[in-house]
Amino acid sequence: MKDKLIKKIINVFKRKTTYGELTFKGVNELIQALDIKDDYNGVFLDIGSGYGKTVIAIKEMFAKSKCYGIEIIKERVEIANKLKWSTKVDFIEGDLRDNKKIIQKANIIYTNSLMFSKEDMEFIINNNKGILIHNNHNFKSNEKIRLTCSWSSRKQNFYKINTNTNR
Ligand SMILES: C[S@@+](CC[C@H](N)C(=O)[O-])C[C@H]1O[C@@H](n2cnc3c(N)ncnc32)[C@H](O)[C@@H]1O
Repeated sequence: MKDKLIKKIINVFKRKTTYGELTFKGVNELIQALDIKDDYNGVFLDIGSGYGKTVIAIKEMFAKSKCYGIEIIKERVEIANKLKWSTKVDFIEGDLRDNKKIIQKANIIYTNSLMFSKEDMEFIINNNKGILIHNNHNFKSNEKIRLTCSWSSRKQNFYKINTNTNR
């Protein structure tokens, strides 16, 4: 049973798709850039959480935090739920625009949102009062963060926005 599951997961990762994600090195870079303290007990949200690695890694490192992912592709949510084992994180299947409440609740939002529409980004920014880290070129800010992603050995540009002040 376990072997079958592992094979299924490996096959999903091998499949040629345009899927990209933050690496574990990138997760550490994110933590350092935001200076997240060991006792962080806030609400962390990954919008477009994919296979859930970032959400799981944050929860494993910050036990007191509440961690969520929103992901529109059902198959990715299913894999994320299998990968998390006993880690207490919640993956919500659906469109980000149907999940206003959780966006409002989050005090750190990370989103690998290069391909998100302007309207999606505006929806996130207008419904949150916290810190948003994103890589959507339509919403560049002065605070640039360089993070390692799976699709390149070169770090990628992300931007930090305080959604309370839009700066
Ligand atoms: C580049 S992947 C990011 C994976 C993960 N967040 C990471 O960085 O490690 C972007 C994900 O966003 C999801 N996505 C795209 N549009 C979405 C939407 N409107 N609502 C929720 N998820 C969405 C895609 O299915 C994809 O899995």
